[in-house]
Amino acid sequence: MTVEQSSARPKTRTHTIAQALIAPAGTSVVIMGWVATKSSIGGIKFATIRDGSGYIQVACKKDRVPPQSFADFEAATKESAVAIQGIVREDKRAPGGKEISVTGFWIISLAEEWPITRSAVKSRSSFLYDKRHLAIRGRKASAIIRIRAEVVYAAFDHFVKNGFTLISAPSIVQNAVEGGSTLFEINYFGRKAYLSQSAQLYEEAALGALGKVFIFQPAFRAEKSKTSKHLTEFWMIEAEQAFADQDDNMKLQENLVRAMAERVLSNRSEDLKTLGRSFKFPEVPFPRITYDEAREISIKKGVPFEWGEDPPAEGERLISKEFDVPFFITGYPLTARSFYHMTEETNDKITKSADLIAPEGYGEIATGGQRIHDYEMLMGRIQKQELPTESFEWYLELRKYGMPEHSGFGIGAERTTRWMCGLKHIRATSLFPRTISRVSP
Ligand code: 4AD
Ligand code: MG
Repeated sequence: MTVEQSSARPKTRTHTIAQALIAPAGTSVVIMGWVATKSSIGGIKFATIRDGSGYIQVACKKDRVPPQSFADFEAATKESAVAIQGIVREDKRAPGGKEISVTGFWIISLAEEWPITRSAVKSRSSFLYDKRHLAIRGRKASAIIRIRAEVVYAAFDHFVKNGFTLISAPSIVQNAVEGGSTLFEINYFGRKAYLSQSAQLYEEAALGALGKVFIFQPAFRAEKSKTSKHLTEFWMIEAEQAFADQDDNMKLQENLVRAMAERVLSNRSEDLKTLGRSFKFPEVPFPRITYDEAREISIKKGVPFEWGEDPPAEGERLISKEFDVPFFITGYPLTARSFYHMTEETNDKITKSADLIAPEGYGEIATGGQRIHDYEMLMGRIQKQELPTESFEWYLELRKYGMPEHSGFGIGAERTTRWMCGLKHIRATSLFPRTISRVSP
């Protein structure tokens, strides 16, 4: 490689950093990425470059590169976008065991002084989220985004393998699926409409056409409380199957979560290491406890609540801390559930439903249950709860045309990611989180 040949900036890369890290020593590569760190030891200049696929160390010696390359290397600031030509070398001291000996270096876009400094972060608790558009470049932030992606890939893979069809549903709706208190109201050309809380009702319609369906789309909740597990906009993975009861439903959920864990552990072990996180592999079947047993635990731990209520956040945390793998809480009272839940034949106060709870204090990640498939029973429930019959007309009508026993669930992509990553707050799992206090960036 002569000095003249390497002076023009290559137009394309030959390798991502992940590919360069597994290329044999002596491979000639062109990589492009951003400068993460810079240092120098003796006469050798070092930089760590990242491109989203990984990080690699590059070494630049003044007498081995054209003067322009050396000048660019020296001038490149943190987060500048750069192109690098070089030779892959084995180096046990380098992170990943490989290093690139630079033969050409070009600045593609010079970065201004990076604003995310230790003192700036300390200065204001909201700083990292005000600068989220830049902060997501950090090692931990990007590791979490990749893990969330893997959770979702696993779900698609699992559903497709098991004969489920992907559907879509509107985000602008007129029904409250999960109660009126968390509805976002919108003005729809002078009419009242809402942002969808869940696609479940549409999935139930799609059953008649497709048998087994799943969906992955945003859900909206006007959560009025500030908690570490609530977003106002989040992504839900939901599934619904015809001719399936609550037992089948729980089996589907545990096999899905097992598949998610398997995929994250095998494909994202480096990212988990970056987060300092490990979690116990969830073998199926998951443990199951009843609502009454869960309530006992909460009472014993000093957080009592009335039979028929949802466990309070602290109670749920304490119950969840008793386990080291996800588990189901079964048999929720009807008073704690939405109108569509099927009740037990022998007790109409208890629903055929369960929450799937992540362990170690992380709490609920999924809710599922068997739905009422009988027209009269559903009509009775809607009337008893004084819900607007008009907006449920189409949902009711499904019960007139061959509605079998059916069940389904919704699992939050961000809640699941939070547990797997071991994060204090759910907002870290969202690229641009929406919470009660944040709608920007
Ligand atoms: O428990 P939820 O409200 O259940 C439903 O919406 C059902 N209609 C789903 C179904 O059966 N198809 O929500 C399901 C899951 C929760 O377990 C949680 O993981 C997530 O969605 N979720 C939230 N995630 C983040 N922020 C919020 N505010 C959430 N609300 C629910
Ligand atoms: Mg729930």
